[in-house]
Amino acid sequence: MKKEPLKISFSSQKGGVGKSAITVLTAGMLHYKLGYQVVVFDCDYPQLSIAMQRERELKAVMEHDHFKRMAHTQFSQLNKKAYPVIKCNGNTALEEAEAFFKKSNITYDFAFFDLPGTVNSAGIFRTLLGMNAIFSPITADRVVMESTLSFLQIVKKVFKQKSNKNGLHLFWNMVDGREKSPLYKTYEKVLKELDFHLMQHYFSDSKRFRKEVPEISKGLVFRSTLFPPHHRMIQTSRLETFMNEFLHLLNL
Ligand SMILES: Nc1ncnc2c1ncn2[C@@H]1O[C@H](COP(=O)(O)OP(=O)(O)O)[C@@H](O)[C@H]1O
Ligand SMILES: [Mg+2]
Repeated sequence: MKKEPLKISFSSQKGGVGKSAITVLTAGMLHYKLGYQVVVFDCDYPQLSIAMQRERELKAVMEHDHFKRMAHTQFSQLNKKAYPVIKCNGNTALEEAEAFFKKSNITYDFAFFDLPGTVNSAGIFRTLLGMNAIFSPITADRVVMESTLSFLQIVKKVFKQKSNKNGLHLFWNMVDGREKSPLYKTYEKVLKELDFHLMQHYFSDSKRFRKEVPEISKGLVFRSTLFPPHHRMIQTSRLETFMNEFLHLLNL
């Protein structure tokens, strides 16, 4: 029997907190740098931001010699294709994924599900609860915290009942400045009281998240569905420590 991939979602009850961006970074690190087989299910209709990004990147590779050469070097060295980005419906994503795995002759290690910014239907909630692990980006503002935490408390409770080993993990995204301000300490106390697991790693607010392959011209790649982040970008964003913590939490 084929091994089951780990089903993972970067999820939150709030849009614009970095779910899609960090899905792409994590998927890229695992697939292009760490030797895993990855598939991404983009269920965030109608935005489909990861699927659209892939289309823009493929176009850039066709149209610009610089990216064409980069793609050629990368894929001949890597000896495998880019990870698939599959558009699907958030309500039926688990079944669509199952059908995809059955048909595929690749054994996937990770399946990422990019779900809609608000979990506003029973179907999407069911998909979310079908994950092996949920990683939830949070940002330190009151509105985000209030809408997110009450939602995540329900997810945490159901996960506990299912005794889901890989669980629910929160992490800060878009942290302003070089150090976390005292405000974070206050929020972290609340998270602890509510018995949430907060990851050590946090992502700082940085322009590099907003630049895609066609726009970077000859600059260094960071957020891409076709290429891994450039090693200097990995260093400055401390992406490696995030990946280590991520893999550790999944017992890998
Ligand atoms: N740490 C960060 N610093 C700066 N910009 C970020 C960061 N994380 C995400 N972004 C940017 O914020 C915007 C929203 O992120 P996105 O991943 O699309 O959010 P979501 O999928 O949760 O709606 C995007 O333009 C993204 O590039
Ligand atoms: Mg998104």
